[in-house]
Amino acid sequence: MAQIAYVNGAYVPLSEAGVNIEDRGYQFADGVYEVCLVVDGQFWDEAGHLARWGRSLDALSIRRPISDRALKIVMNQVVRKNRLDSALVYMQATRGVAPRNHPFPGDAVSPSLVLTARRFRLENSNQIAARGVNVITAPDIRWARVDIKSISLLPNILAKEAAQRAGAGEAWLLRDGAVTEGTSSNAWIVNAAGELVTHPKGHAILGGITRETLLHCAASLQIKVVEKQFSLADAMAAREAFLTSATNLVMPVVKIDEKKIGDGRPGPLTMRLREAYIRECRARAG
Ligand code: PDD
Repeated sequence: MAQIAYVNGAYVPLSEAGVNIEDRGYQFADGVYEVCLVVDGQFWDEAGHLARWGRSLDALSIRRPISDRALKIVMNQVVRKNRLDSALVYMQATRGVAPRNHPFPGDAVSPSLVLTARRFRLENSNQIAARGVNVITAPDIRWARVDIKSISLLPNILAKEAAQRAGAGEAWLLRDGAVTEGTSSNAWIVNAAGELVTHPKGHAILGGITRETLLHCAASLQIKVVEKQFSLADAMAAREAFLTSATNLVMPVVKIDEKKIGDGRPGPLTMRLREAYIRECRARAG
């Protein structure tokens, strides 16, 4: 069956889906995106993703292409039309199509909206989690507003490519000696005191929706969380390390730059948190 995409009001075969070459997303990366997870027909953390979608659009003064109510319908339809039960839904809005010129075009230009869905298998993710992933480190050369989920991702893809070439699943980004986050995930460690440590929210990281729900899970489990910067040395000396994102849920990190974390296997607290996160999302969705 052909895959189906949503493009500006129409559902079209993915192979025929396209945007105008003067779309400002294509020319300036002038747009925002979200990646939402659907498991067994239920969106996980949907409200959080929609809220961040709105915040990113507002931060860049891009109008909402359609209302959140309409967007939810399209999100569901794109999953249904691709006959998927579990999926990753990608949605992207750009400032629209206009002759190339740096200033914003006038209000007559409508934002563009595109959605796609691809299969997700929780079992596959669980299998990867049972082994854990390796990360490398790379300098954080991104701009000063990475809290906006912009489609401008060159530093992220360069570091991810370096990770892939090194046989690692993610690169943790270093700024002024601190680990900010991964190229497409948030970074966490469990320190010697058994506390969870993750970079505080602000302009230097993307405030992950998975991160937010996991903070709630940790509180329910009475695990102490400290939202503060940690160094690469802290990470190397950690008992456990993991990353979070809609695509990875809670994913153990077993090596950083070839150094084993703990005993080099997924940590017990990490796995408890992964289970708690999955339980919480299922409970919220159901
Ligand atoms: N990335 N930090 C960055 C830089 C990200 O790109 C992402 C998500 C996260 C985690 O956010 P969340 O928990 O809301 O998924 C943190 C998506 C999945 C992507 O770019 O594919």
